[in-house]
Amino acid sequence: MTGANDFFVIKAMEDGVNVIGLTRGSDTRFHHSEKLDEGEVMIAQFTEHTSAVKIRGKATIQTSHGEISNEGELGL
Ligand code: TRP
Repeated sequence: MTGANDFFVIKAMEDGVNVIGLTRGSDTRFHHSEKLDEGEVMIAQFTEHTSAVKIRGKATIQTSHGEISNEGELGL
């Protein structure tokens, strides 16, 4: 089972990948947007403030559930 403090890793496979944090609780909204260029890596956790993450663009994402590749390219 995934603990609240598990880390996940996002590696951008193109420029301009967006990592968007969504708030925890009854009000679900964007609270943080991070832009990664190709080859950049972000290591993050789910927290008291962040319960979901949306990733736009071509990226590889590793979690305790496994690895997934976000295929869609932004076509920038
Ligand atoms: N201040 C945010 C928080 O503590 C930072 C953060 C943690 C975050 N995990 C994230 C931002 C994932 C974007 C995506 O919740």
